[in-house]
Amino acid sequence: MNPNSEILLDVIGLKKYFPARGAGSSGRNMLKAVDDLTFHIKRGETFGLVGESGCGKSTTGRSIVRLYDITNGEIHFDGHNIANMNERQLKPFRKRMQTIFQDPYSSLNPGMNVAQLISEPMEIHGIGSKQDRRDTVLELLEKVGLKAEHAQRYPHEFSGGQRQRISIARALSVRPEFILCDEPISALDVSVQAQVVNMLEDLQAEFGLTYLFIAHDLSMVRHISDRIGVMYLGKLVELAPSDELYDRPAHPYTQALLDAIPKPDPKIAQQLSSPSITGELPSLIQNFQGCNFASRCPFATEQCRQEEPQWLEISPGHFTACHLHGMI
Ligand SMILES: Nc1ncnc2c1ncn2[C@@H]1O[C@H](COP(=O)(O)OP(=O)(O)OP(=O)(O)O)[C@@H](O)[C@H]1O
Ligand code: SF4
Ligand SMILES: [Mg+2]
Repeated sequence: MNPNSEILLDVIGLKKYFPARGAGSSGRNMLKAVDDLTFHIKRGETFGLVGESGCGKSTTGRSIVRLYDITNGEIHFDGHNIANMNERQLKPFRKRMQTIFQDPYSSLNPGMNVAQLISEPMEIHGIGSKQDRRDTVLELLEKVGLKAEHAQRYPHEFSGGQRQRISIARALSVRPEFILCDEPISALDVSVQAQVVNMLEDLQAEFGLTYLFIAHDLSMVRHISDRIGVMYLGKLVELAPSDELYDRPAHPYTQALLDAIPKPDPKIAQQLSSPSITGELPSLIQNFQGCNFASRCPFATEQCRQEEPQWLEISPGHFTACHLHGMI
């Protein structure tokens, strides 16, 4: 792939299986956390990834930035397939791809002060002199809305929102191009969620960043995402530009996720509500015949139980895997 193309990340047939443990496991069963994902992320865009707990969002993100060895597939970052690179080959890419996690408290070493936390990635990658790093710390503290005097304090002295700001400054310190944001606001008070999202957007514009933004519900990602992928049981079931996904959801699972967003007026909520999903989330260990959503889908037919739906583009840039092809 051309390194100058508008695509920064091209993910092809990504699989990440974990050995299945526990009752009934013969030792050969695999938990298919991510099962054959194909999508790309354009330079400068925010790609939202949503789906209920356990559907494989974090595993997808961690595989893409190679925090995991993957089971199969290709991950092209700026034209380089990093899927099977070893740690030495990955080093330059580690600098270009950073991660912000849900819980900034567990991802920040409590024994390091803020200056050390923000400097550390620069030291690891041999960036700048000591003075350069000090200057960068001060510059980034300001960019994330903290003060110079915070540099000597420790993570426990901050609120959750402030700790997430420190994580963001730390991620930015090596001037990455791509940031995996794995539920970066889910653990924060509602009152500070919007502030952090707005800050991420400002930083994106200023530094030309590309984001993969993971969230478990659709209300959080609409505002920030250019395009959104919806995951169910390790697979993508729908992908579309944000507004298109909200206005014309094509997959029954996406519709159910949209129905789950609380409506301001309960009367309107009742009028709008369509048949929503019921039943237990099936196990990721079982092998499915047909559509993996069939056991919970209000529209399931015999065909759905027999034949796996193909991933099809039903309108420009709008893909879904459902036998109804959006005709619901
Ligand atoms: N290191 C691991 N070893 C074994 N199984 C794992 C591991 N990490 C994740 N899994 C399993 O893979 C599946 C997907 O997990 P993942 O954390 O990717 O889901 P998620 O969509 O991020 O969920 P959440 O919204 O709760 O964060 C789950 O069944 C999980 O138990
Ligand atoms: S293929 Fe059938 S079971 Fe699967 S989501 Fe579409 S209608 Fe529902
Ligand atoms: Mg997760």
